[in-house]
Amino acid sequence: MRTIALTNQKGGVGKTTTAVNLGASLAKLGKRVVLIDLDPQGNSSSWMGININELDKSMFDVFHGDVTISDILHETCVGNMWVAPSNVALAAIERTLVNTKENDSILKNSLSPLQDHYDYIILDCPPSLGLLTVNALTAVREVFIPLETKVLALNGLVTLVNTVNLVKDKLNPALEVTGIIACMFDVRTTLSNEVVKRIKDKFHDKLFNSVIRESTKLAECPISGQPITLYAPESRGTQDYMDLAREVIEGEKKKD
Ligand SMILES: Nc1ncnc2c1ncn2[C@@H]1O[C@H](COP(=O)(O)OP(=O)(O)OP(=O)(O)O)[C@@H](O)[C@H]1O
Ligand SMILES: [Mg+2]
Repeated sequence: MRTIALTNQKGGVGKTTTAVNLGASLAKLGKRVVLIDLDPQGNSSSWMGININELDKSMFDVFHGDVTISDILHETCVGNMWVAPSNVALAAIERTLVNTKENDSILKNSLSPLQDHYDYIILDCPPSLGLLTVNALTAVREVFIPLETKVLALNGLVTLVNTVNLVKDKLNPALEVTGIIACMFDVRTTLSNEVVKRIKDKFHDKLFNSVIRESTKLAECPISGQPITLYAPESRGTQDYMDLAREVIEGEKKKD
């Protein structure tokens, strides 16, 4: 089972879009996928058709030890893909768990029972480096960093990589940044090409070859309640996320 956190403390870079559509693409290729929504905004839960205002149980209850992740999994319109949802309640955990012992390892412990049942666990992280993201980084083996290629934001990337290394040293020696994903790539501008070139220069082989191009269909997709593979199967969004999924699966060989 591969465990992957989609993390970037910068908002609006493509974390949720990648969590949902990479997840659905992996499922389409026959992998059993659990998407865990770790963002109090609940964007990936809503996207997958879940009414987050009427959740019986959510990741909030998992963090409080009242239920397991298996108890809160929702089936989705995608065969082979399940969602563990969140809503605004999750925003309180930084406060409610402040005095809980080993509060950075709660998620790690709750992922272990999923081990034999799923191929991919994908965590959609919030745009911050707080307790939720630290739990994600403690729980997973791999970090994927979605990066908006419309602006050059190398400083933020360096901060993020430093945080990952800190968690690796203190809490999770197995943690690695597997890859940086160039999102919202604008083929018409030289800026997107320049950003990709700079990332390649600085992070060498960490950049996935598959690039996610900017696409109207991808931007429209969340309100459809479906991932791009169902909403627009012939679109370049589907093409790009399927290419990325194949590249990710190809990487399984290196992980064994
Ligand atoms: N390839 C793309 N083409 C066009 N629009 C995109 C693309 N990827 C993402 N978007 C749009 O950009 C916005 C931000 O994307 P997304 O919600 O995935 O980012 P995020 O990093 O999860 O944001 P947050 O930090 O708020 O959770 C959304 O409106 C989304 O529809
Ligand atoms: Mg998001």
